[in-house]
Amino acid sequence: MNTLTEKEPQKILVTAALPYANGPIHLGHLAGAYLPADIYVRYQRLKGRDVIYICGSDEHGVPITITAEKEGITPQQVVDKYHYMNKESFEKFGISFDNYSRTSLPLHHQTAQEFFLELYKKGILKEKTTKQLYCENDKMFLADRYVEGICPVCGSPGARGDQCEKCGSWLEQTDLIEPKCKICGSTPVIKGTSHWYLPLGDFQKRLEEWISTKTHWKENVKQYVQSWFREGLQDRAVTRDLYWGVKVPIEGVQGKVIYVWFDALLGYISSTKEWAQKIGQPEKWREYWQNPETRLIHFIGKDNIVFHCIVFPAMLMAWNDERDDKFILPDNVPANEFLNLEGKKLSTSRNYAVWLNEYLEKFEPDPLRYALASILPETKDTDFSWREFQARNNNELADILGNFVNRTLTFAKKYFGNKVPEIFELENIDNEMISKLKEYADRIAENYENFKIRDGVFETMNLARHANKYFNDTEPWRTIKENPKRASTTINICLQTVRALAILFEPVLPFSARKIWKMLNLNDDIVKSGWDSAYQLSLKPGHQLGEPEILFRKIEDSEIEREIKKLKIASGEITEEKIEFKPQITIEEFQKIDLRVADVVECERVKNSEKLLKLKVRIGNEERQIVAGIGRHYSPEELVGKKVIVVANLKPAKLMGIESQGMLLAAVKDEKLTLITTLGEIESGSQVR
Ligand code: MF3
Ligand code: ZN
Repeated sequence: MNTLTEKEPQKILVTAALPYANGPIHLGHLAGAYLPADIYVRYQRLKGRDVIYICGSDEHGVPITITAEKEGITPQQVVDKYHYMNKESFEKFGISFDNYSRTSLPLHHQTAQEFFLELYKKGILKEKTTKQLYCENDKMFLADRYVEGICPVCGSPGARGDQCEKCGSWLEQTDLIEPKCKICGSTPVIKGTSHWYLPLGDFQKRLEEWISTKTHWKENVKQYVQSWFREGLQDRAVTRDLYWGVKVPIEGVQGKVIYVWFDALLGYISSTKEWAQKIGQPEKWREYWQNPETRLIHFIGKDNIVFHCIVFPAMLMAWNDERDDKFILPDNVPANEFLNLEGKKLSTSRNYAVWLNEYLEKFEPDPLRYALASILPETKDTDFSWREFQARNNNELADILGNFVNRTLTFAKKYFGNKVPEIFELENIDNEMISKLKEYADRIAENYENFKIRDGVFETMNLARHANKYFNDTEPWRTIKENPKRASTTINICLQTVRALAILFEPVLPFSARKIWKMLNLNDDIVKSGWDSAYQLSLKPGHQLGEPEILFRKIEDSEIEREIKKLKIASGEITEEKIEFKPQITIEEFQKIDLRVADVVECERVKNSEKLLKLKVRIGNEERQIVAGIGRHYSPEELVGKKVIVVANLKPAKLMGIESQGMLLAAVKDEKLTLITTLGEIESGSQVR
């Protein structure tokens, strides 16, 4: 175990698997690698460690060309679209990469080619003429995902030419049972072609010795690797007959590219090089990659274990032989299992997924970060459900953390002039609360150091639970009258705890942590203030506080039901409802309705009604009073001065005793409502037809 007492590492190099730029990021990606890595990295930054977080888009390989063919665009267009989309989603979600690169960059192509050539020149890569699957119809070799068949290892259908997603086996396409061309569905023939192979078997002994020192690795990862060793490592082709990818840099060789995994893994290095260039120190990447004091940590999902624990280390060993500029090997590969969705396996092809870009259009990032962090598949597959997401937000973020922050700050505002009050004599209960701050900071840190991200986050919420209990037990609302010094001491400690919670929650709730920071009116950088300042009671009495705000809004049932419905439609459990239109009418019938543009001149809430607003609108030079059931969707202030559309010849009616002389037009769906207005400028009184 890597405990805090061990020698401090000089540098930490964290990577997360480069996602294919052939689709948006979904929750499975986030829970597998990007979120746990981000929490880990943010924690390390708070600890003041020299850490960089490296990632980028994986832009080669058959997944990209297949998407391009499906969408009728070029592979470059595919990767451009998804690279920028994913980069933006990651940013909005608070994933704090130091660099997010892409493997289509010339810098990456050079890096991969240089690496390939080094191994080629050393005579490590073996050229072999082999038989490969070839589609006569499409006139091409069916590399990787261009062919599907039955997995020769586990027997499940749908295995691809290079990998079976079911059992995680890395396959040779000629071993597939009943292979079929992915483009036209025909059975391919076998044809000779030549390729270069990485002889993994030659590295097995060294790999086994190296892995045997990794006693601190996760059990699931070690077991995977051991099963590979037991089977015996084989030669693996590292070139393909494809046009999209890094060209094989051997003279005289044409129409062949480097296998996508061989190049993508090197993407970690090229992305670090790009980072170094961007900060104006182009050689600085070596201080991480070629420094035995650096700890290299790969965050990945379990389907990537073989590439990170066997292939990449073998590649690096091959480079390192007889060279002075040696690369380090990973210190740890905390691979996660899979995340399921509402009890079913995620499927991107069937759109049975929650896409990050779509999520972010509707919700804040922090609730999802917290909900996912609480169910990370660290030791076994876990399940995401929208109901649980809602419960975590409403019952934990809002009711525990949000509540504690809010009651503390509003109390300070009401009774202490919005300043940090004095701390007087400490009683046992106060000392206990204060010592909890350090206890929790250390316990959370220990979990994070050991990649128990879930437990770390759980303990952080436990501190907030404890803080609420302290508030309840010390009863400042009572002592403020009977013994104001007690209340002052209590609120001082509560404010110190609010500050501590901001710091300790920063890795998982980076946006909310900064909101709390602002509410405390702290102007220093939360990261620089440091993890260990969480328990140093550094808020000075008399410090002016900021304005208390609601940290987490409650998520409504209707919002959750909408999401669940979407998934049920994707999984075929229900079908999308058909719109039932009303019977047809004639144009004359329609023209009986007198629709007019109107200006809202006044608006107020109807007493004792949440739903009703009373508006005064002007239609030309006529004024009308209208009562509308839109009180849950609009506040009176936001409507005054707006243009609306009114049914002007509707018979007046009374609503809660108030006369309504017309009706506003609005678009409605389920719980949603939006008023209809005009797109361009037009005078009130104008006809709508
Ligand atoms: N693109 C791969 C996937 O999504 C992961 C590549 S990881 C890398 O499974 F290390 F090779 F970059
Ligand atoms: Zn075909």
